Amino acid sequence: MEFSIKSGSPEKQRSACVVVGVFEPRKLTLSAELLDNAARNYISDIIRRGDLEGKAGTTLLLHNVPGTLCDRVLLVGLGKEKEFREKEYSDAIRCAVKTLNETGAFDGTVFLTEIAVKKRNAAWRIRQATIVAQEAVYRFDQFKSKKDEVRRPLRKLTFAVERRTELAAAEEALAQGFAIAEGMALAKDLGNLPGNVCTPTYLAETAQKIAQQYSADSKIDCQILERADMETLGMHSLLSVAKGSHQPPKLIVLHYKGGKNSEKPLVLVGKGITFDSGGISLKPGEGMDEMKYDMCGAASVLGTIKAVAQMKLPINLTVIVAASENMPGGAASKPGDIVTSMSGQTIEILNTDAEGRLVLCDALTYAERFEPETVIDVATLTGACVVALGHVATGLFANNDGLARELAQAGEEAHDRAWQMPLWDDYQDLLKSPFADMANIGGRWGGSISAACFLSRFTKKFEWAHLDIAGTAWKSGADKGATGRPVPLLTHYLLKRAGKLH
Ligand code: BES
Ligand code: MN
Ligand code: ZN
Repeated sequence: MEFSIKSGSPEKQRSACVVVGVFEPRKLTLSAELLDNAARNYISDIIRRGDLEGKAGTTLLLHNVPGTLCDRVLLVGLGKEKEFREKEYSDAIRCAVKTLNETGAFDGTVFLTEIAVKKRNAAWRIRQATIVAQEAVYRFDQFKSKKDEVRRPLRKLTFAVERRTELAAAEEALAQGFAIAEGMALAKDLGNLPGNVCTPTYLAETAQKIAQQYSADSKIDCQILERADMETLGMHSLLSVAKGSHQPPKLIVLHYKGGKNSEKPLVLVGKGITFDSGGISLKPGEGMDEMKYDMCGAASVLGTIKAVAQMKLPINLTVIVAASENMPGGAASKPGDIVTSMSGQTIEILNTDAEGRLVLCDALTYAERFEPETVIDVATLTGACVVALGHVATGLFANNDGLARELAQAGEEAHDRAWQMPLWDDYQDLLKSPFADMANIGGRWGGSISAACFLSRFTKKFEWAHLDIAGTAWKSGADKGATGRPVPLLTHYLLKRAGKLH
């Protein structure tokens, strides 16, 4: 979809559809009032008759409204004005775009972006509207032989800003929102692809494509480490996970250099288990298909670097993806096996289903060589995190409270929230092993914390945070699918670090 920004009054828009909001009960927003004045109370009369109360999620489509230059007016219910916050704003935009997409209008001019949202400015509203609009029209139907065609799909959206002085900032926010939405779409596509297509090799090819796509600025390059390279490096923990599979593992490294050469890179590490059967500690059959999503951490860091390259942010960003299948082949790791990680620490594998930490620990050790400013890993790591936080918040762990605060704040502002969990030393005892330096599981209780504790043993040399996205990376049920989270959180954090938020 195409996007643009405009400032001007709603009654003067030559558009297939002008979209304005109505608060509950029956209170017109400013732009709705302007339309109503031009239409000599045509809209307020309709509302007084009770056709639209203003409840969130309701809409009313009007044709040939007198005094206006547009073909249609779409009224969107916003709920109560004093309860109108980020979520309500996003819901209203989503509702507007979905409705527009069904009306037969090719283009729409949306005035909802002029409505005040507590603590958020016009740039935020435009960025968020762009992201939400792209999300609303996202489809993943490449495996359907018959696609659900939209009759006359929406092609172009224009977002309104109140003042001309806001135009420049709004244009920049629009470009940012568009880049973030593209990053999310990539993350969703990769997540939604089945495991027989999205293999470690496929992830590696995707990373190479990203590097090629932005190579015009020659700021990005990609390197793939093969099994033999990993053997040389001593990544026996990562390699142990790949042993039961016919798919070769890949360690994918992307460097984006938008900052000064002297600046240390920020490093993002993604868990890329393209299918997690559990290995010899096989998972139960029910719902096992969802373990194709076990590479959503990888997908999100790839989506993030794509967005960053697209926005040309003045930062240095490195992305590392540890990609493997976790399968129960004859050569697979067995419970009780002991492996030596790249760090030299030994690990007793008590459960082959705790494979995420086994691939991540070597990727984290590998990150040391880039002398990172900060390292953030993203992983669908534990079912226990879903028990703790459900599907709303991502689990956030860090060995530095400042970093944890920054990430939590970024999540808050991007409405892609994370909640900090403890990483106290008291939990480290859970990982004791009589035979090796540590076990790869810490027992039933506090499972997301012992997993984070495991990772913390490989991140002593840098500032580090861990995002457990097991509950937030995808939705189950009838409309199941990847969410693209936490691309909004990560890109917001990076935008802030780059000083590019207004
Ligand atoms: N990929 C799973 C975590 C997961 C489970 C994500 C359910 C989303 C939904 C991970 O590899 C795993 O299997 N973790 C185990 C760890 C346990 C064996 C200590 C788990 O959470 O059950
Ligand atoms: Mn597992
Ligand atoms: Zn897993």
